[in-house]
Amino acid sequence: MRKPLISGNWKMHHNHFEAIQTIQRLAYALSSSDYENVDVSVHAPFTDLRSLQTVIEVDGIPISLGAQHCHWEDKGAFTGEVSPEMLAKLNVSLVIVGHSERRHIFGESNEDINRKVRAVIAKEMTPILCVGETTEEREDGRTLEVVEKQLEDGLKEVKTSDVASMVIAYEPVWAIGTGKNATPEDAQEVCKGIRAKVENAWKSASEQIRIQYGGSVKGINAPDLMKQKDIDGLLVGGASLDPDEFSRIIKYRLLD
Ligand code: 13P
Repeated sequence: MRKPLISGNWKMHHNHFEAIQTIQRLAYALSSSDYENVDVSVHAPFTDLRSLQTVIEVDGIPISLGAQHCHWEDKGAFTGEVSPEMLAKLNVSLVIVGHSERRHIFGESNEDINRKVRAVIAKEMTPILCVGETTEEREDGRTLEVVEKQLEDGLKEVKTSDVASMVIAYEPVWAIGTGKNATPEDAQEVCKGIRAKVENAWKSASEQIRIQYGGSVKGINAPDLMKQKDIDGLLVGGASLDPDEFSRIIKYRLLD
């Protein structure tokens, strides 16, 4: 049985003071029973991670610390970059890799993304590999083809046992930050295709791998998305900045 993972991607929001307040308010809004049914992670800007690590560890908050991206090398002349080794040292356990904003705004290629996936795994952290089609690709009927290619390239040379413990986030580009979420049925269709692709290439990993949906997730649409057979969690942007709204998403069962 796959335990759902609900992750908040704060993107470039919340300085370290705001980050501390937000995680404390989120922890206050959740009770220990909420974590029995769902794993929770927050993916904060680099400058927040050290502060969040301290609060999480000192207060014993059962939320996993996440990063939004990293470089693939351990160290070197890469001005502005942060290595997986540095993240692991902060007890980061999950790293988003290949978010569409990284792909489209910063030009990350599938090859870069594959290097990052492997580097994150090598440091015993879990990559959340993001895949998703643009509006144009969807209108051309190429959604599955695009997503399958992103999976093939992103997971090149990754062992089956590592694929099994990873997370794939299906985030259609047209649904990110637009208020237009995919219908639960459309999201399910693509997530089912992702699982089929994993089964095809990595066999047994398909039963274990967790697949999230991301793109305009709110408290109001979380329950129907989470009811879908192949959706094992949510990657939440804007709505994760507000601890009350994010806690409603985490408690999606109560909203139903
Ligand atoms: P929104 O939830 O703001 O649409 O962002 C989704 C996302 O990009 C999460 O990684």
